[in-house]
Amino acid sequence: MARSELDIVQYLNEQAQHVEKTLRHIVPEQWDIPVKLRESMNYSLEAGGKRIRPILVIAAAEAVGHDPAAADSAYPVAAAIELIHTYSLIHDDLPAMDNDDYRRGKPTNHKVYGEAMAILAGDAMLTHAFYCISLAAKNSRVSAETALAIVEDLSVLAGAAGMVGGQVADILGEQGITTLEQLQYIHLHKTSDLIAFSLKAGGRIAGASEEQLEALFEFGRGIGLAFQIQDDILDLIGDEQKLGKKTNSDVEQSKVTYPYLLGLEASQAEVARLTEAAKQRLLSAGLAYPNRLLALADYLVGRDR
Ligand code: IPE
Ligand code: IPE
Ligand code: MG
Ligand code: MG
Ligand code: MG
Repeated sequence: MARSELDIVQYLNEQAQHVEKTLRHIVPEQWDIPVKLRESMNYSLEAGGKRIRPILVIAAAEAVGHDPAAADSAYPVAAAIELIHTYSLIHDDLPAMDNDDYRRGKPTNHKVYGEAMAILAGDAMLTHAFYCISLAAKNSRVSAETALAIVEDLSVLAGAAGMVGGQVADILGEQGITTLEQLQYIHLHKTSDLIAFSLKAGGRIAGASEEQLEALFEFGRGIGLAFQIQDDILDLIGDEQKLGKKTNSDVEQSKVTYPYLLGLEASQAEVARLTEAAKQRLLSAGLAYPNRLLALADYLVGRDR
């Protein structure tokens, strides 16, 4: 492994640990919550996710670099996006959606707690994400104005015009052939929107300019699209053990994917092309320390999990 790749793997491991520490205490102990609900939420949150989105919040804050403490105040927002992402996975795996039995190396939430509890655990995580953003303003040095802007972004990007809209288009796509343009809509919304949100939120916390926020967002859209194409590729040729989820889920659910429309090789080339373009866009933003984000983008091209 090259030196820079080693650095990024180490960075990902360290940051994942910080994020997981935040997640362990994210739902206050003293809240009176049905035991099964708390268990079901923790079950999915504690499973081995890569924590890419929360790490992108932190890495984006570090890349702007105006304020060395900004990354520290970003953790509640990092937790918020991981809550939203985890809820989206719990619901994505339900029989009514992708009907998957394994996730993050364990049986899916509904397999253990039943469908009703899985739906409700997802609902609770979605709601709790917005609580976390209010916490960011209350307990740390994120201003109320910045927190409000982050709430606005998240409401759009995780909602009907964002991730949920993308998931709906994905489900509707199962029913008929999709053009590349329609497939792009699905991927950009179901996956890119949460990734682009993460980068912009990190930028907001660190006081990025409007131009920098736009560049971070567009970088996120590009690497997000590449991330979902790679997910589609790994669904075909990945290792179930490493992925922690079953392969061939897309074929079983008749999903239209990049490999389905373009073939494997052209899809792999597209991941590389999109990543390169995203890196160029980021470089145009005049960030103080862009290197880690660039290295993360490269790392994701070669990911096998
Ligand atoms: C899986 O996301 C779902 C997609 C949007 C492709 P990740 O690959 O980030 O899943 P975890 O969080 O590591 O489990
Ligand atoms: C999931 O896409 C996207 C969201 C959960 C928003 P996939 O359905 O391809 O994700 P996996 O392959 O089940 O992780
Ligand atoms: Mg799906
Ligand atoms: Mg799925
Ligand atoms: Mg997939």
